[in-house]
Amino acid sequence: MNKLNVRVWRGGAEGAFQAFEVPRRESQTVLDVVTHIQRALDATLAYRFACRVGMCGSCAMTVNGVARWTCRTHVDVALKNENQLTIGPLRNLPVIRDLVTDMREFFDKWARAKGSFEGKQTRRDDFAKIRPQSEDRRQIDAAIECIGCAVCYASCDVVAWNPDYLGPAALNRAWTLIKDARDQKKTERLRAVAGDAGCHSCHTHMSCTERCPKHLSPTAGIAGLKREAIFAFTGGSS
Ligand code: SF4
Ligand code: SF4
Ligand code: FES
Repeated sequence: MNKLNVRVWRGGAEGAFQAFEVPRRESQTVLDVVTHIQRALDATLAYRFACRVGMCGSCAMTVNGVARWTCRTHVDVALKNENQLTIGPLRNLPVIRDLVTDMREFFDKWARAKGSFEGKQTRRDDFAKIRPQSEDRRQIDAAIECIGCAVCYASCDVVAWNPDYLGPAALNRAWTLIKDARDQKKTERLRAVAGDAGCHSCHTHMSCTERCPKHLSPTAGIAGLKREAIFAFTGGSS
């Protein structure tokens, strides 16, 4: 049987890669490889997953230097022309153990970017009428399907340089709410994302957009936030 040479990060911030040999299988995903190691070779390996179908966002890891959702990444794609798979935790997040990162800062930044909806209607009011073909609705639809996997966050060099930077996912979330006609917190949210560690820190490197497994473009949302913030706080035109 064909074997795959795999190196997996073991330990926390300090640690080392450990080598394993894993049977090669047809249509094998990177998550299948990690699961095989944990079930058949070393039960102490720590990693996260839940849905296995690209819904929950919990399985992201660094695979041969690139942040990826591992349940939907086939080994063939990750390997390219290399003959070894190297799997580590996501960048830009503290490592708890092995392939498990501490996601608290990532989600705290969603809260700092005021990433929760606040409407004013009660259950007795009629549904808000949002036209499906409206420009705002089109922009929300293009950005809303985020699964919170942090692939973008791990791929962003500005997060690496400035740990306070809110990052692409939190800013993308803020953008979907800024465009939501029912939300009541627009000014407060714009203030939250226009600070030193907010949208103006983005260098438009596009790594988040290139790597997002859901094909979202946080870069476009961040550019929109920059425009809206300038319009709101300097009286320019958006
Ligand atoms: S476009 Fe902005 S948020 Fe996205 S990776 Fe580049 S610097 Fe980070
Ligand atoms: S924007 Fe894309 S890469 Fe970033 S957390 Fe959401 S789904 Fe993941
Ligand atoms: S396990 Fe849920 S997205 Fe991969």
